[in-house]
Amino acid sequence: MDLELSPEERQKLQELKSELQSFKRERGQLIPILQWIQERLSFLPSQALESVAEYLQIAYAEVFGVATFYNQFRFHPPGRNPIRVCLGTACHVKGADIILENFERKLGIREGETTPDREFSIERVACVGCCALAPVTLMGETVHGYMAPSKVEGLITRVAIEKEVRERERKKGAHV
Ligand code: FES
Repeated sequence: MDLELSPEERQKLQELKSELQSFKRERGQLIPILQWIQERLSFLPSQALESVAEYLQIAYAEVFGVATFYNQFRFHPPGRNPIRVCLGTACHVKGADIILENFERKLGIREGETTPDREFSIERVACVGCCALAPVTLMGETVHGYMAPSKVEGLITRVAIEKEVRERERKKGAHV
């Protein structure tokens, strides 16, 4: 399911529509256009795919099919706390798939998706280069080694608490 676009994203999308004119109107431009849009928006919302289909005068299904074929494209905005679960060999043999499933269950989204409040997104990644700490999960830029399914809830709760503390401080600041 598509997440609602922010006003800023809607604005960018409008601009992109007119800037599409700088690309030749030919099918061979499809991938460069998708890459260009992803650079600007950091993901490919369905509205952008519709605009590309219209501009290149090809079916939406074709644009969608090409975009989903390549794993360089994402269809959901990255969350403020992107979770990347390593599923490289060393992590996989230590149960990384169960960790991934646990994040999916706790957050109610699938890998490749973002929570509706955009707080979290989940991605599976290949070896992140610290196999000695397997299984490994990255939360933002922080590496969490020796991960376990039982640690998933704690990590999510920690982010929620940090957010709550920031909110309270912001409100306190606003009242001073
Ligand atoms: S396989 Fe996960 S860090 Fe190398």
